[in-house]
Amino acid sequence: MNVTRLGFEQFRNLENGEIFPCDTINVIFGSNAQGKTNLLEAIWLFTGGHSFRGTKDGELPRLVNGRNAETAALSMDLFTEGRAQQLQLFFKNGRRSSVINGVEKKTGSALVGKFCAVIFSPEHLLLVKEGPARRRAFIDGALCQAKPAFTKVLANYNKSLLQRNALLKDILRHPELRDTLDIWDERLVLFGTQLTLERIAFCRQLAPRAAEIYAGISKAREHVAFAYAPFHGADTQSAVAAAFLAALRESRETDIRMGFTSAGPHRDDLSIQIDGLSARTYGSQGQQRSIVLALKLAEADILFEKTGERPVILLDDVMSELDVSRRDYLLNHLDGRQVFITCCDPETVRLMERGRGFRVESGALKN
Ligand SMILES: Nc1ncnc2c1ncn2[C@@H]1O[C@H](COP(=O)(O)OP(=O)(O)OP(=O)(O)O)[C@@H](O)[C@H]1O
Ligand SMILES: [Mg+2]
Repeated sequence: MNVTRLGFEQFRNLENGEIFPCDTINVIFGSNAQGKTNLLEAIWLFTGGHSFRGTKDGELPRLVNGRNAETAALSMDLFTEGRAQQLQLFFKNGRRSSVINGVEKKTGSALVGKFCAVIFSPEHLLLVKEGPARRRAFIDGALCQAKPAFTKVLANYNKSLLQRNALLKDILRHPELRDTLDIWDERLVLFGTQLTLERIAFCRQLAPRAAEIYAGISKAREHVAFAYAPFHGADTQSAVAAAFLAALRESRETDIRMGFTSAGPHRDDLSIQIDGLSARTYGSQGQQRSIVLALKLAEADILFEKTGERPVILLDDVMSELDVSRRDYLLNHLDGRQVFITCCDPETVRLMERGRGFRVESGALKN
């Protein structure tokens, strides 16, 4: 899919008006605090998701004398599903509504699935820098987009886990409840096995794709390896279920003492290594940035394979810490994808072989 027009009204500091992006690389450049991230955020909101900066909807309309205006509106023309379509998004008193091809919808979430994007923002570097929870959330989030039925699997697992943990805490005071643990073990194994198998299948697609993209970014100077390794090492339905059940039984006494479930896919990790070394511990800033980028671009490719539509790629402030050859990859080797990329340095536009540059100055967009 391609965004062909974007319109803004009272949105953050962006001047009311419209822009016409090209269907390859769009570089949004300007000094700090001019509105570059605001522009990417405006595009992102059409996915139906929350602001990637964690801003509440009521804070998006333009600040006037220290107060947010009552309303803000965004509009987008895009080419998707083989035809031109129009989307509108309204924020009024902290609530969203939308219009899809002229048909009014009461919610903003009606847009989910109409517009698809993948976003890289500096916070996403935590995907490499922090513990396993971030990486599990990345895999699960990507799976939810690629396969909506997965949302239910994840919710069922999380609910069963919460209930088992609550029961573990109760057992300390009421030992007669001990027998009811079996039921929760069975439920946890049922949903946990589905969850694990989905993650394994997704990572088998993701890992080679991300490694190939990383080789492109680093001009094959480094070898990166991604692997999702469930704690038990099993990968077929019966083996995963048996291993998980055995682990729950084995850790039962410890779990009762601690009051939580110590084994399960809620503790698994996606391991990332560069030339055999942990990227989290030993990766340089540029390498860590390149890894997150490779994962995001691979996620976009998998979404394309599943849905037949290429997600729009939003890259916020990705250029800093990347050397010239890595910048060149992002500007000139992402063929077939529509990309919006922000940076401070106007020189970046000159490195781009094809595409369009937009200068942002105090919220005004010029190309
Ligand atoms: N609701 C709002 N109304 C008006 N201005 C806003 C609103 N929200 C944010 N801003 C302003 O937008 C500006 C920040 O824009 P943005 O985050 O897009 O900057 P940027 O160009 O990405 O800068 P950097 O290069 O530092 O990342 C700030 O000056 C901020 O005060
Ligand atoms: Mg910014």
